[in-house]
Amino acid sequence: MIKKILGTIGKSVVSGGNFEIPAHDSPLFAKIDWEKLPRHVAVIMDGNGRWAKGQGMLRTAGHTAGVKTLKNILKTAIGLELDALTVYAFSTENWKRPHTEVEFLMNLFSEYLKKELQEMHEDNVQIHFIGRIDGLPESLQEQMREAEGLMKDNTGVKFNVAVNYGGQDEIVRGVQSIVRRVQAGELAVADIDEHIIESSLDTQGNLPVDLVIRTSGDQRLSNFLLWQAAYAEFWFTETNWPDFTPECFVDAMVDYAGRDRRFGGLTKPDKE
Ligand code: FPP
Repeated sequence: MIKKILGTIGKSVVSGGNFEIPAHDSPLFAKIDWEKLPRHVAVIMDGNGRWAKGQGMLRTAGHTAGVKTLKNILKTAIGLELDALTVYAFSTENWKRPHTEVEFLMNLFSEYLKKELQEMHEDNVQIHFIGRIDGLPESLQEQMREAEGLMKDNTGVKFNVAVNYGGQDEIVRGVQSIVRRVQAGELAVADIDEHIIESSLDTQGNLPVDLVIRTSGDQRLSNFLLWQAAYAEFWFTETNWPDFTPECFVDAMVDYAGRDRRFGGLTKPDKE
C-alpha cells in the first residue's frame, strides 16, 4: 500500500529542502538493479568529528549534521524497500569520550526520537534498538521502548539503531541467555546450533547482513555485528558521514550488485 501511494506521488528526490522517499522511477535510482539489492545493510557512520573539525566547528556539530544524513539515508532505504538498515550510533567503547560529548549524544538521540518518531511511523518503519539498552539514561530507555511499541506492527524497513552496542558484548549476553535456558532444562546442549545463537542476539528476526558500509576512510569493523556480518560484503568511502548523500548510498548498492557472493562455494561457471 505504502509503495503504491509513493508510486503515485512519484516525488522527486528533494522537495523544499526536505528529502522525500524517492520513488522507484526516481533519477536517483536510475542505476539500481532491483534484482540485486542487498536486503540488510549495516552502516558505520564515522567521521562526524573530522567533518566538524574541517569546518572549524566543535565535534558535536558533526553529530548534529550526522542526524540529517541519517534521516536521508533512512528515506533512501525505504525507497529501495530494503528489508533492514542497521546503524551504529554509539558503541560500548564510546563511553571513553569526554563526558560533554557523551551527554550531547544522549540528548541528540532523545531529540531525534521526539522529532522524528511520528514521521518514521508514517513511513511504516519498524524501529528497534540494539545494544545494552539498560545501561542508558532511564528517560532515554523509556523513549526507546515507546518508539518500539508505537512501530511494532509496522511492516516496512526494519531500522535497527545500535546504542551502547558492542558485537562481543551482544554475543556474551546471547550466550548467557542460552546457558540460562539450558540450566532451566528448556534446551539441551546438543541442540545449540547457529539458529539458536542467532535467535539469542539483539538482531533476532533480521536477515544476515549483506553489506556493511563504513564512511570516513577507516577500514575496520569496530566490534559491529560480528556474528551477523559473517558473509557480508564491505564498502568503504573516504566521505565523512555528514557529507554522505543518498547518491553515495546508491553508489554502494550499484557496487554491491556487481559482487560475486560465493558463501564459500564456487561461482556458477566454475561449477561442474
Ligand atoms: C562517529 O563519528 C559517530 C558517532 C560515534 C556518533 C554517530 C551518531 C550520529 C550519526 C548521530 C545520529 C544518530 C542518531 C541515532 C540520531 P566520530 O565522532 O567518531 O568521528 P571522528 O572519527 O571523525 O572523530
